[in-house]
Amino acid sequence: MIALGIECTAHTLGVGICNERKMLANEKEMYKPVKEGIVPRKAAEHHARMIGKVMGRALEKASVGLKEVDVIAFSQGPGLGPCLKIGAAASVYLSLKYEKPLVGVNHCHAHLEICKRMCNLKDPLFVYVSGGNTQLVVGKKGGVPFRVLGETLDIGVGNLFDSLARELEFEYAHGSEVAKLASVGEYFELPYTVKGMNFAFSGLLTAAAKMKGKKSTEDICRSVMDTAFAEICEASERALLMSGKKELAVCGGVAQNAHFCSLLRGMCKENGARFALAPNEFNADNGGMIAHTGIVQYLKGERIDARKAQISQYWRIDEVK
Ligand code: FE2
Repeated sequence: MIALGIECTAHTLGVGICNERKMLANEKEMYKPVKEGIVPRKAAEHHARMIGKVMGRALEKASVGLKEVDVIAFSQGPGLGPCLKIGAAASVYLSLKYEKPLVGVNHCHAHLEICKRMCNLKDPLFVYVSGGNTQLVVGKKGGVPFRVLGETLDIGVGNLFDSLARELEFEYAHGSEVAKLASVGEYFELPYTVKGMNFAFSGLLTAAAKMKGKKSTEDICRSVMDTAFAEICEASERALLMSGKKELAVCGGVAQNAHFCSLLRGMCKENGARFALAPNEFNADNGGMIAHTGIVQYLKGERIDARKAQISQYWRIDEVK
């Protein structure tokens, strides 16, 4: 079975093609705003402009024609409305034109599912860290698909770093730039908020922004990153011990941060749990994870009527059927 998946929830437009055994193609283009944060309408315009090109590249790389695809999957939510609409419209078009079944995929579920496949996991605690989401999730049990044990009480950790980059007026306002400077900075104390297995970052951002001009940019980046990562590690350790899981998998865009992964790896080692991390290609937003999750869902009999397909901007992982 071959699935084509379209990822289109935020700044990344991705088209992935896979079968049950192998990822055949995973192509993408990113909308990169300079200085300003992501403007949903501009991101959607970028995706609309690029989708033909990215899809062409994916089909060529996979050596697959659209007629050979068995199922079309798309990121139905959560995400930015204008972006989601582009991915949904393209998927509906392909589904109707080529008479292929259509599957709507939850973006967060796809991050977890591709990590499970790539790392060959049984029943892990997922530490899901991205721009819009930061959650500690355990998998299906007792009819409840996913359970969120802990999460951010305000903004996602990726969003924290992107916002900090804007506060510090970086040319390319992105968390990856914060990570580069953090590696040469010194730590100083900032507000640290953990409540049980939940955590919060907006107070940390406000306090860090006030240090602009008083501390070096490198020191501010280092201190914000260390504080945020320590918060997530503390809550993750509590969730690991309380859930009794023997595996911990980190996934989502911020899982590409090597320092964060080393902290989680050390915590897992101390608690006798296996630490798992998928290749970076599958932690960043990508179409391959949508294609793979599309197959998983299709094989369970899930599909949606292309003529009634809708997006779901605020679809939580614990609402996935
Ligand atoms: Fe994501």
